[in-house]
Amino acid sequence: VASHDAPGLSPIIRKKLMGFVGFANLPNQVHRKSVRKGFQFTTMVVGESGLGKSTLINTLFNTTLYPPKESLPPSAERPTTVAIESISADIEENGVRLRLTVVDTPGFGDFVNNDESWKPIENRVNRQKIVDNRVHACLYFIQPTGHSLKPIDVEFMRQLHTRVNLIPIIAKADTLTDEEVADFKARILADIAYHNIHIFQAPTYENEDEEAIAEAEEIASKIPFAVVGSDKVVKTSDGREVRGRAYPWGVVEVDNEDHCDFVKLRQMLVRTYMEELREYTNDVLYENWRTEKLVGMGVVQDSSVFKEINPAIRIQEERIMHEAKLAKMEAEMKMVFQQKVQEKEAKLKQSEEELYARHREMKEALEKQRLDLEDKKRRIEAGRPLTPEKTSTGKKNRFLRT
Ligand code: GTP
Repeated sequence: VASHDAPGLSPIIRKKLMGFVGFANLPNQVHRKSVRKGFQFTTMVVGESGLGKSTLINTLFNTTLYPPKESLPPSAERPTTVAIESISADIEENGVRLRLTVVDTPGFGDFVNNDESWKPIENRVNRQKIVDNRVHACLYFIQPTGHSLKPIDVEFMRQLHTRVNLIPIIAKADTLTDEEVADFKARILADIAYHNIHIFQAPTYENEDEEAIAEAEEIASKIPFAVVGSDKVVKTSDGREVRGRAYPWGVVEVDNEDHCDFVKLRQMLVRTYMEELREYTNDVLYENWRTEKLVGMGVVQDSSVFKEINPAIRIQEERIMHEAKLAKMEAEMKMVFQQKVQEKEAKLKQSEEELYARHREMKEALEKQRLDLEDKKRRIEAGRPLTPEKTSTGKKNRFLRT
């Protein structure tokens, strides 16, 4: 049977196998290779100081990624984070190694520039050897105010939602009653929808079994996850030892789904969708970001494939632009030159006129002298004595003797 699954591609012929070939083992190969290589997962935690970020990370991965406060000397508070910091740890479970990196961010907005984390893998060339700093999930900690999102939360999420898988979390949910949590969640979701913020959703696929669909729906129904964190083991009233927080009126159990959404958050982040989060980061978020960067650099994108502009065309375009720039410069120089020539001509004309005026003056003076001399000559010839005479200008004539 031949079919054309994709336009432009050669027809796919579906055949029945006559015997065992062995590619059914591919999933096992992938499994073995993945286990050997280990996995890498990077989470970013964002939120105000003291919302329990480090406690939750320790709780999530059952490890003390952040040193417990008690391990620090009494005077030494864990320093407040003032720059983006990342901590990595190799953890292992049933022979599967996971390199977990947690990126801790200080405050909001100003310092948070996720751009940097993409930089080392910007170029596809030689990607294998580069440490992948991409953030696969961003846990956004919302203060348990019970009101709605603060403007700073909205702004932050709007800045990040196209760059990273956003997972909103209501921190310290043990400070709210069940009813308050439900109302708070509804308001947060309404705010998120109103501002068109895209948060990570548990994906569902066609042909998926009912169990997986039910799991996805259940996880989705808990977003934003109302969590309680604790890396301490406490004793419940019925004698069980659990991770939780002990209060005079009872124990809040971290791993109890009736108490908080911690289990669902861990299920989404680690057990069920870690690979989805990684894939979505690499295939969608990263590629979108890359497209933006490349378009900004003058490289065009052709639907799904990047086509770098032919270097010859690029050089040609650059040459045309350069020539246009030269022509503009030349025109400007010509204009300046003409202006200067005009100024010079005007100056010369003025000098010429001045020269003419002086020439005329001198000519007139000489004519006057000539007339005076002729007059003098006539007087001498008439036998009249020479007396000092005034010129018409009132000055003594220097050609006349006294
Ligand atoms: P910075 O390190 O300053 O960024 O703070 P953080 O957000 O990492 O908070 P951290 O984990 O250091 O917790 C701050 C305080 O809140 C500690 O005293 C924790 O014991 C407490 N805490 C952590 N998680 C919870 C929680 O779920 N509920 C309650 N009530 N308190 C919590």
